[in-house]
Amino acid sequence: MDRLFGALDSALRTLFSKPRSSRACPVVPAEQTHLGAQERRHAAALMRVNHVGEVCAQALYSAQALTARDPALRQQMAQAAREETDHLAWTQARLDELGARPSLLNPLWYAGAFGLGMVAGRLGDRTSLGFVLETERQVEAHLQGHLDRLPAADHASRAIVAQMKDDEATHARQAQHAGADELPRPAKLLMKAAAKVMTTTAHYI
Ligand SMILES: [Fe+2]
Ligand SMILES: [Fe+2]
Repeated sequence: MDRLFGALDSALRTLFSKPRSSRACPVVPAEQTHLGAQERRHAAALMRVNHVGEVCAQALYSAQALTARDPALRQQMAQAAREETDHLAWTQARLDELGARPSLLNPLWYAGAFGLGMVAGRLGDRTSLGFVLETERQVEAHLQGHLDRLPAADHASRAIVAQMKDDEATHARQAQHAGADELPRPAKLLMKAAAKVMTTTAHYI
């Protein structure tokens, strides 16, 4: 019951309150960011997509913490969730700076990711970890894509995305060390397809 309330609390905080990061937002001190109107719109669309990704990460880790059978694993999920909260706070702060709003569909993304996390969790800790591993790998590749697409002059967004990419790689490694099963290829492809729908939609809405 306690854990259920914890999951509900984390959903409400993710969707309706301003997240607080435990680490300072990454910056490139030597480089000032000055963007034209079009660059700013482009960067905002990409950072909105990344913010949605972090909303989903909150949902995913919350579902994992709820379903994990091993208490040590639950601890590990909770620690990863705290780092994901930094990502959520940084992307939200950057959206604010760019004068853009987060996705209007965030409650929907959260519910979807939470449901998927619960399904994976029900299949046992190793499958659940396999789901985390594959998610983090796909997110890492996606963030690399954004480093290629973000305006070269947007040092502020790039510093955030680069740090997130490093953290996601660490989360993937941790899941692997904790005994993640490799997911079957069709499951990976399905996850890619779902992520594509999400990122394409969040670009605009
Ligand atoms: Fe993240
Ligand atoms: Fe992560």
